[in-house]
Amino acid sequence: VWQGVEQGPEDPILGVTVAFNKDNHPDKVNLGVGAYRTEEGKPLVLDVVRRAEAAIVADRSVNKEYLPIIGLASFCKLSAQLILGADCPAIVEKRTTTVQCLSGTGSLRVGAEFIGKHYHQTIIYIPDPTWGNHNKIFPLGGVSVRKYRYYDPATRGLDFQGMMEDLHSAPSGAVVLLHACAHNPTGVDPTPEQWEQIRRLIRSKKQLPFFDSAYQGFASGSLDRDAAPVRSFAGDGGEMLIAQSYAKNLGLYGERVGALTFVCGSPDVAKRVESQLKLVIRPMYSNPPGHGARIVEAVLSDKQLFQDWTVELKGMADRIITMRHKLFDALKQKGTPGRWSHIVKQIGMFTFTGLNKDQVVFMTKEYHIYMTADGRISMAGLNSKNVHHLAEAIHAAVTR
Ligand code: LMR
Repeated sequence: VWQGVEQGPEDPILGVTVAFNKDNHPDKVNLGVGAYRTEEGKPLVLDVVRRAEAAIVADRSVNKEYLPIIGLASFCKLSAQLILGADCPAIVEKRTTTVQCLSGTGSLRVGAEFIGKHYHQTIIYIPDPTWGNHNKIFPLGGVSVRKYRYYDPATRGLDFQGMMEDLHSAPSGAVVLLHACAHNPTGVDPTPEQWEQIRRLIRSKKQLPFFDSAYQGFASGSLDRDAAPVRSFAGDGGEMLIAQSYAKNLGLYGERVGALTFVCGSPDVAKRVESQLKLVIRPMYSNPPGHGARIVEAVLSDKQLFQDWTVELKGMADRIITMRHKLFDALKQKGTPGRWSHIVKQIGMFTFTGLNKDQVVFMTKEYHIYMTADGRISMAGLNSKNVHHLAEAIHAAVTR
């Protein structure tokens, strides 16, 4: 019966890992997926996660019952506080509702479906470029995507004027997707002053901001600083949505733990929104898994664990920054043609190298370096041992 089913393409990001795993070369390097690696090139389970997990497993009162449709209540509360700040007026005034979802993707998907069902506009404006999955998530929720200018290849920085023009000409009331920090794939974020202008424009046009916060703590190493744009939007009294992921900042990739928060106009609206979110979630996956949420709950609620987490988080962010400098220095030393200062200027997990598709294919074929076709590299996959191999490959790719 499935005779007519065509072979589907591999995912542009996760498919890179599939190709990498098939390669037997000893010097192969995976700079595709945004997943943190240690200096030894190994996945990292944070020490605070191990400690929290050990306590959960030892606790005989923790069972494997279903969670409520919207997840673990304390996890939801703590997640909203983490991104918005505990003293956020919207939280104090009880105008928020948070549901536990399946990491960032699941939170965006539930948000998309809610917008598709309940909002008067079913178009979302997303940055060009953006994380590839955004293009697929929203249409499946009944929301079509349009792009706003974001990245300027000439400067390898933000096309702020283009962004402002496009948001200005987007309809009033439109939904606008914003990367909270460490924009994926470009590593280019607005400055605080630019954020302020973006906020004013979006509010003046009564547009609805939908923040994707996948890297809180990864951009600057500070959870609070990375949350500043989101908090400024929440602080002005307006409405918004936020999708949070704990994949990167707590290294809980495979636990699929995240949260979707609605900042609403009143407590009454927030309650009704929550009731409708339950109707979206129940037929989609019924209720979320408990284990990852309990780990997050433990880290966010325990003073010592939280404090130790911030140290580990800063350690990951700093190692990535060190790798940026090592790669930049290596290219400079080689005299590789081109401007490479964007490697140290861009922030977060990724560098948008500016390498084109042919160069990427060449580097994979000749140097066994795996990256997405758009020239994005995950800086977290670099270490002192492989950074020179990458510099050599880039040099060969641009000089051949
Ligand atoms: C990435 O962009 O590499 C990560 O967000 C992983 C993913 O799911 O695509």
